[in-house]
Amino acid sequence: MRVAVTGAGGRLGTSLLAALAAAKFVAEVLAWDLPDHDLDDPASAEGLVARHRPDVVIHAGAWTDVDGCARDEGLAMRRNGTAVGEMAEACVRHGARLIAVSTNEVFDGARTDGRPYAPNDEPNPVNAYGRAKLAGERMARVAFGPVPHLAIVRTAWLFGAPGVDFPMKILARARSLPDGDALKLVADEFGNPTYAPDLASALVDLADLAGRPAAAAAAAAAPHGRGFDGIHHIVNSGMASRAEFARETLRLAGLSVPTQDVPAATWTRASTPPARAVLAPTPLPNGELLRAWQAALAVYLATGSPNAEAQ
Ligand SMILES: NC(=O)c1ccc[n+]([C@@H]2O[C@H](COP(=O)([O-])OP(=O)(O)OC[C@H]3O[C@@H](n4cnc5c(N)ncnc54)[C@H](OP(=O)(O)O)[C@@H]3O)[C@@H](O)[C@H]2O)c1
Repeated sequence: MRVAVTGAGGRLGTSLLAALAAAKFVAEVLAWDLPDHDLDDPASAEGLVARHRPDVVIHAGAWTDVDGCARDEGLAMRRNGTAVGEMAEACVRHGARLIAVSTNEVFDGARTDGRPYAPNDEPNPVNAYGRAKLAGERMARVAFGPVPHLAIVRTAWLFGAPGVDFPMKILARARSLPDGDALKLVADEFGNPTYAPDLASALVDLADLAGRPAAAAAAAAAPHGRGFDGIHHIVNSGMASRAEFARETLRLAGLSVPTQDVPAATWTRASTPPARAVLAPTPLPNGELLRAWQAALAVYLATGSPNAEAQ
């Protein structure tokens, strides 16, 4: 199979390229990013899909600067909404399957019953990034219509190289904390910390299913596994507040600094994150769930070279 990855240089894209390079069913990996793939250019997706004819496109490219999205919602809608629709239309036109990566921020996180969000729960984004990503999901669904072969994968709170992720920010702040100060940690925002390589490996398994005829794909999926089509929630198991995520990072890194829980409202930022947009994970193609986020974080901090000293 020929598998294309958009946002190939990003956090998820980097992990996807590594996972695809090791996958036996993949004959060729097409790594698409700026300037060849441009979310601002309405002709970009069609041009690439028509020329390279991938069997599956994993659309990880996005404008992930949530505060930037809040400041320019029109551009957010262009990059995270309309461009997804254009990629979906190109895939339908040329017979490619599409995995569109979306976010927990399609939910308002205002639920008070403590339950995590399932794929069928009603989205209600509270910020520009979430509204644009939801528009992207919907445009992709309209483009595919009754045609199967669209997987929408929502995920959350990605960590992993490259770039400065949440654990790296916490380690850098802890290491530069003035004597006598406490590290302020947001205790009332919850999500699913998710290790990009774990998500990438699950997406590669989904891409593998996409390449098989329906009967073979059903047979390949374990009894409780899922097929390719539809909405998937792929996150590491468990949930955390920002403060819990930070404390586990500090513990695993062997850093002991004073901490102080604060409400999210004390951080002034352009985008308002949903308070409790925790996803209920759906089974992977093999019927299992991703490991606990704490286990993934331990592996990352031990081997993923989060070079916080350099920050
Ligand atoms: N990060 C998270 O916590 C998180 C949570 C939930 C869902 N997601 C979703 O997961 C996916 C992957 O996220 P990520 O963390 O890997 O994001 P990322 O590291 O910011 O990567 C995004 C990629 O998209 C590219 N891109 C940005 N603007 C573009 C444009 N105008 N045209 C073409 N490409 C452009 C970026 O290229 P440059 O680097 O050159 O700008 C980068 O390669 C996205 O769909 C995101 O919405 C992420």
